[in-house]
Amino acid sequence: MSRARRKRVAVLISGRGSNLAALIAAAMDPAYPAEIATVIANRAEAPGLAVARDHGLATVALPGRDFADRAAHEQAVEAALAEARADIVCLAGYMRLLGAAFVERWQGRMINIHPSLLPLFAGLDTHARALAAGVRVHGCTVHFVTAEMDAGPIVAQAAVPVLAGDDEPALAARVLAAEHRLYPAALRLVAEGKVRMSGARAVFSGLAEDDATAMLVSPGAG
Ligand code: GRF
Repeated sequence: MSRARRKRVAVLISGRGSNLAALIAAAMDPAYPAEIATVIANRAEAPGLAVARDHGLATVALPGRDFADRAAHEQAVEAALAEARADIVCLAGYMRLLGAAFVERWQGRMINIHPSLLPLFAGLDTHARALAAGVRVHGCTVHFVTAEMDAGPIVAQAAVPVLAGDDEPALAARVLAAEHRLYPAALRLVAEGKVRMSGARAVFSGLAEDDATAMLVSPGAG
């Protein structure tokens, strides 16, 4: 039996692109079920664009200020997705809110990575808020994107400990290392059709024992 076609993924970024780099690294394995078809940034100066170019990937910069309004910008993003024949959209540090129509069109085919264990700490400054709350466990979440920010069905999560001496950069670095392991694992599940969105929940099927939908990352990791 021939292997299923690799899913074509568009990664949307605004900045550094370290999660993008993790996805690119995973997709370099021909056995990985997804390939990065394009990288779209809403800031021309996003450092992640250089990461993509260094790997010979197609890139598109669509600065918000070049468009009259959100609808016009999202039309351009849609055109770039169509051009790339994208099957799946991965938001990776994409700092622009997406409109309801766009989210609806990509429902079940668009995922995001968020630096907290949702539903805790949706929104910004997650690491500072985790430290302020005194939680002993923190982490990251990959979820399907829905109209409500950072609230869609959860695909995968990774937990890291909060250590006694942690400040915000130390905790952020530990979570980021976990993100780089989690996002490729989560995208694999979506690309293989082992998780789909059903209302407010993610529904899993055909998982092997080693399919990591949740992972515990040890204090030393990363
Ligand atoms: C990550 O922490 C991600 O969870 C959040 O934005 C950050 C993006 O970092 N959504 P990078 O651009 O992938 O390095």
